[in-house]
Amino acid sequence: MSQNTVTKLLSEYQPFPFDLEMVRLDFQLDPKATQVRARISMRPLRAAAPLELDGEGLVLRKISVDGRVLARTEYSQSDTGLVIHAAALPAQPFMLETEVEIAPASNTALEGLYMSKGMYCTQCEAEGFRKITYYPDRPDVMARFHVTVSGAGPVLLSNGNPVVQEAGRAEWLDPWPKPAYLFALVAGDLVAHSGSFTTMSGRAVALNIWVRAGDETRCGFALEALKRSMTWDEQVYGREYDLDIFNIVAVDDFNMGAMENKGLNIFNSKWVLASPETATDGDYERIEGIIAHEYFHNWTGNRITCRDWFQLCLKEGLTVYRDQNFTADMRLGPVKRIEDVMALRARQFREDRGPLAHPPRPDNYKEINNFYTATVYEKGAEIVGMLRHLVGEEGYRAALDLYFERHDGQACTIEDWLQVFEDSSGRDLRQFKRWYTDAGTPRLTITDSFKNGTYTLDFEQKTVPTPGQDDKPPRHIPIAVGLLSPQGRDLIETTILEMTEARQSFVFEGLAERPVPSILRGFSAPVELDFAPEAAPDLAFLLAHDSDPFNRWDAGGRLALQTVVAMAQGGAVDPSYSAAIGALLKDGAADPAFSALCLHLPAQDQIAQALHEAGKSPDPEAIYQARETLAQALAMAHEAALSELYEAMAVTGPYRPDPEPAGRRSLRLATLSLLSRIDGGARARTLFDAADNMTESLAALGLCVSAGVGVGVGEAALAQFRARWQGDRLVMDKWFNTQLIASKPDQALSRAQSLVQDPLYDWKNPNRFRSLMAGFSANHAGFHRQDGEGYRFYADWLLRLDPLNPQVAARMSTAFETWARYDLQRQSLMRAQLMRIAQTEGLSRDLSEMTARMLG
Ligand code: ARG
Ligand code: ZN
Repeated sequence: MSQNTVTKLLSEYQPFPFDLEMVRLDFQLDPKATQVRARISMRPLRAAAPLELDGEGLVLRKISVDGRVLARTEYSQSDTGLVIHAAALPAQPFMLETEVEIAPASNTALEGLYMSKGMYCTQCEAEGFRKITYYPDRPDVMARFHVTVSGAGPVLLSNGNPVVQEAGRAEWLDPWPKPAYLFALVAGDLVAHSGSFTTMSGRAVALNIWVRAGDETRCGFALEALKRSMTWDEQVYGREYDLDIFNIVAVDDFNMGAMENKGLNIFNSKWVLASPETATDGDYERIEGIIAHEYFHNWTGNRITCRDWFQLCLKEGLTVYRDQNFTADMRLGPVKRIEDVMALRARQFREDRGPLAHPPRPDNYKEINNFYTATVYEKGAEIVGMLRHLVGEEGYRAALDLYFERHDGQACTIEDWLQVFEDSSGRDLRQFKRWYTDAGTPRLTITDSFKNGTYTLDFEQKTVPTPGQDDKPPRHIPIAVGLLSPQGRDLIETTILEMTEARQSFVFEGLAERPVPSILRGFSAPVELDFAPEAAPDLAFLLAHDSDPFNRWDAGGRLALQTVVAMAQGGAVDPSYSAAIGALLKDGAADPAFSALCLHLPAQDQIAQALHEAGKSPDPEAIYQARETLAQALAMAHEAALSELYEAMAVTGPYRPDPEPAGRRSLRLATLSLLSRIDGGARARTLFDAADNMTESLAALGLCVSAGVGVGVGEAALAQFRARWQGDRLVMDKWFNTQLIASKPDQALSRAQSLVQDPLYDWKNPNRFRSLMAGFSANHAGFHRQDGEGYRFYADWLLRLDPLNPQVAARMSTAFETWARYDLQRQSLMRAQLMRIAQTEGLSRDLSEMTARMLG
């Protein structure tokens, strides 16, 4: 069997038969020949167990047990590891010693120890440590690490607290036992932006953000965000930091967003560095959220980790939930909730509907890196939110206190997690557990009736089959409901209805007149809603009156989607939608950030999905046109109000990334986006010239490209932007990305083809590759052009990247996951590209698993 076909199963879990007490690692760094010496003290837990160690791409120089060099017959070696036969091992505790050689400079997969612009760094989650040394590379094996580094510098970092710091050599001791995926090492020419924090029990913690010289002026925001995160985790969860030092390092070449290595977080520089000229309001918000996310992992992930990788959402779902709540507390809570649900629907609902659907806790995988998904992360977070609805505010805190008390220092499962909720609340969560084990998004169909003062809501839940799971028993769903009077007054307090059956009715008595229901307030469960025709709510009424901001926004979104879906099939603009937008523009009381969200038209991908669900095959060109026509119609109908708001929302004074001015800018830019449809991009061009911050500059640039009359406006702005920012890698990523998203659909491919020729297109850098390719695939009608050339271009690049960086190639392949939605011709064009990829000789395990799943 080739390694591409090995499927790992949750049901086959076996504990590791040895205890690891202490791991001593000695690194002598060299780009081509780094020497890694490992001394691991081991205690056998079972008699006569062989010792299985993972290891990939390692040159073994020496292996000994208790100082005795092993004979070649005492162990077997393969390209995935090494097994020491039981007969070669003592029954008592022993010391295993290995010496291996690795070549960080030729590590292009950016997993294990690699180099980024002359600096050494590591990424070990999920299974990168096995590329550093022979080791039981599994999260349930925890040990204390003592690390010595030499051979590079001057800065030499690892986990835990520093023991020795001298020129050219450093020693670090991490007192907290940890799995190998949390190991980290960084070495190179770095400078620190430093600060300190005093914990709630009065301990001083040194804080450092390490960057390359020149970048230290862009670390201030991240450092303050770290302090806010530390304070929040103490105040809200009672969790204190547990080392003397907390280091963050920014690297330019990084596969993901960031990594929570114990005491030494490593970040994609994109999510650390910020200045007003180079980072947008959205970047600032994300940086704060990711800094918090990685910091919060110290308790939810590090102190309590996962037993195996099937349990990934135990740490990720909970930590995303925590970072979402943190951001909601730091900024505007309801606005943050809307943003999170928008992202969930766009990414997770999309995943759940297609061939890549999987449970938040999968039970099989070939390559675990393919499961760092929206389902594991974002749906995982929604499940925690539902648990909180079920047990209440105090119940949630009690459950979390018990979780930390009972499981600190352990590697846990979803069963352990649910058990603390059951034990602390007395509730039975067996049915609720299906949220973790079952894939797919339930659909709730709603009907209602009113008679003699009694109002009845009837729900029916259905989840369609997903790959490998045909049977979908009903789930336990918390549905937050409000009832409004015809004047828009709340008749009851928001109530959580608990649905557990396939069909269930809920009755409200003593009402004077038929109420207007507000269902799924705050998006209390990750489900889709369908209203039976007779129960269809008056969306314009809800948009105007619902006291729940989420449902107000959602009503507006539904109305917009209905209109644009009808328009994509030849219909006209719905006057009630236009009138509702007119009312919103005049609503002086609404928060600008909230109004801005209400002005965003549904994404083309969302419109395509809605058409597919209505039994139509989505025509990308028609969708694009319908959306443009709607935007133009709104701009014409409300030009005066829009331009008044555009002026009124201008922010004066020096740039601040705070929620208040950021909200004003977002409303200003939302009005600009509509107005650009009728002014030929004139206002956008003016703003582009005047802007003193990246938020406005970048949005204006995109609008110059998409709305610029003739090619002149857009091309001139692009050239000017490039000339100014060509030396700044993070800003240039935005330049590549924005122009592809903003291109007219028939120009997207040719633009992408010429951009890959740009000398600044460094495709081996994951950020740069992603900005270009994700920008292109986000151009819905451009990517889905009828002749299939968009698909071919995209597949060519996945195939080019795969041999170097399989993780990123596999992740980006999800652009094809929606193939089944489209017409037969596009389906066969997309499948042909997936097949071409799948049949490529030497394809990575990562990309071959993804294409196989997508082809079904
Ligand atoms: N644990 C990290 C985070 O969510 C993600 C690292 C995933 N990396 C990977 N190569 N799969 O914060
Ligand atoms: Zn995480």
